[in-house]
Amino acid sequence: GYLSAGDSGAAAAVPAPAAAATKLTILYGSESGNSEKLADLSAKDAKKRGFSPTVKNMADIQPADLAKVENLLVIISTWGDGEPPETATAFYKAFMSETLSLPKLRFSVCALGDTSYEKFCQMGKDFDARLESFGAQRIHPRVDCDLQYEKPHRAWLDGALAAFGPAVAAAPAATVSFAAPAAAEHDKSNPFGAELKERVLLNGKGTAKETWHYELSLEGSGLTYEPGDSLGIIPVNAPDMVEGILKAAKLVGTEKASVPDIGNKTLADALREDLDITALSRPVLTKLLELTKSKKLATLLGEGAKDKLKDYLHGRWIVDAIEDFASKGLSPEALVSLLRPLPPRLYSIASSPLAHPDEVHLTIASVRYESFGKQRKGVASTYLADLVKRGDVVPVYTNQNKNFRLPASGDTPIIMVGPGTGVAPFRAFVEHRAALEQQGKSWLFFGDQRYTYDFLYQTEWQDHLASKALTKLDVAFSRDQPEKIYVQQRMLERAKELYAWLEEGAHFYVCGDATRMAHDVNEALLTVVEKQGGKSREAAEAYIEDLKKAKRYQRDVY
Ligand code: 2AM
Repeated sequence: GYLSAGDSGAAAAVPAPAAAATKLTILYGSESGNSEKLADLSAKDAKKRGFSPTVKNMADIQPADLAKVENLLVIISTWGDGEPPETATAFYKAFMSETLSLPKLRFSVCALGDTSYEKFCQMGKDFDARLESFGAQRIHPRVDCDLQYEKPHRAWLDGALAAFGPAVAAAPAATVSFAAPAAAEHDKSNPFGAELKERVLLNGKGTAKETWHYELSLEGSGLTYEPGDSLGIIPVNAPDMVEGILKAAKLVGTEKASVPDIGNKTLADALREDLDITALSRPVLTKLLELTKSKKLATLLGEGAKDKLKDYLHGRWIVDAIEDFASKGLSPEALVSLLRPLPPRLYSIASSPLAHPDEVHLTIASVRYESFGKQRKGVASTYLADLVKRGDVVPVYTNQNKNFRLPASGDTPIIMVGPGTGVAPFRAFVEHRAALEQQGKSWLFFGDQRYTYDFLYQTEWQDHLASKALTKLDVAFSRDQPEKIYVQQRMLERAKELYAWLEEGAHFYVCGDATRMAHDVNEALLTVVEKQGGKSREAAEAYIEDLKKAKRYQRDVY
């Protein structure tokens, strides 16, 4: 007979045998907090769909723990030149050197990265390949996300969860609620317009450096932050940069442009507001080759030209590539298709919310230099310096960084190494401890080029020393004498006391330049532990590994 509608209705009313929800492990490795955020988001979503998810940080588990896992999502970011996030380094190294057998494991990988780096999403690629080599089954293809990761992550998650099959327990039906919607939270896609209240040039006249102190209002935003967090800024491109790229493409700017996810506007507006018109990368060149079929460019992108490509990319921007390989110009559509969305920029916050309620302060060096005969400038740093005036509104959001935090106890000593703008979060740390009247000792190593011009926040540090909010200050001015003196030299000079502080349980923080400074400071720390602790190099390395594991060695480097 018939299968009436009533049949299925009756069947649904019969209580289903209690079946366990499918277990799902979401493993992340995060540097600035993006992977962690996505892991939490993925878990929320998986739960809604009836899975029983557990979120794990690579910092807290061993590769062998995966033997117990059946369903795995990996969310991993790649840092700088193909490096794992600091907190995932130990896990990554073990994972790449150990041999595991994981035939029961089903997995999918979401890789975060930045296409302007050569080893784009390398960590994700490594985990993906390694899991496969351990016999695990890839149930959904890896996604490699550029800076705008929200959409690709969402699509990946949908696909991966579907591939894991129906989660046994059905999600409870959504209940209709008449409660007022929660206040719109501000984030990357819904930034808050923060008024610029104050700006102060921190360098004296007569130096090459241009470091600004900015104070923005968060009043009415509902945004909160802790010392160690960063502020996301959504900049626009400078008019002369937009002009430059239009000229190179032989366009005027009044042409219509259709920007994915944004809509239609004039080309000039799209270039100003929505598109990354500066960062040149292999993917941009590859796209340009498709558009122009330039023989010269084909050679540059060919196998065996890796070093030449690297040389070419160094110091050049998109505008140079258009001049070099699209000398006849580009259509508006072609130009738009070449460019990725304009990414927001993150800056370490320089204030404590306790010392400056409803405000957020930043310490930003304006990036300006010349290369290949052209004036170049950093997008966000010069947007703030040149285009935003007092009273103007800047689109911002706050970004948590749980990997850069004051110790739980206010009595724990802290050692802070922050040359240049790396000093920003330490201004927040010291202000915060002062506001809470915490008694723990604190020691700042600061460095910059010249004492007279570049001693950022000098009077504030002196006040903090006087009030004992700051216990010790050591400075290194690199260009006040013929030979360079850097913060790490001061660390070595104070080796004995530095080691004593570590032995007392001090936390050690580094902020600033990642390419050289952070490495050199790490070397100095190793030397201090080796010499003062009477340890071998290996034992000193193990000591520092233990500091990291105990979250007593934290870095915010860029
Ligand atoms: P320099 O510009 O004279 O080389 C902040 O930028 C300070 O960090 C400057 O004094 C800069 O010196 C210094 N600096 C440059 N390279 C460094 C390194 N490898 N380690 C520590 N400090 C460094």
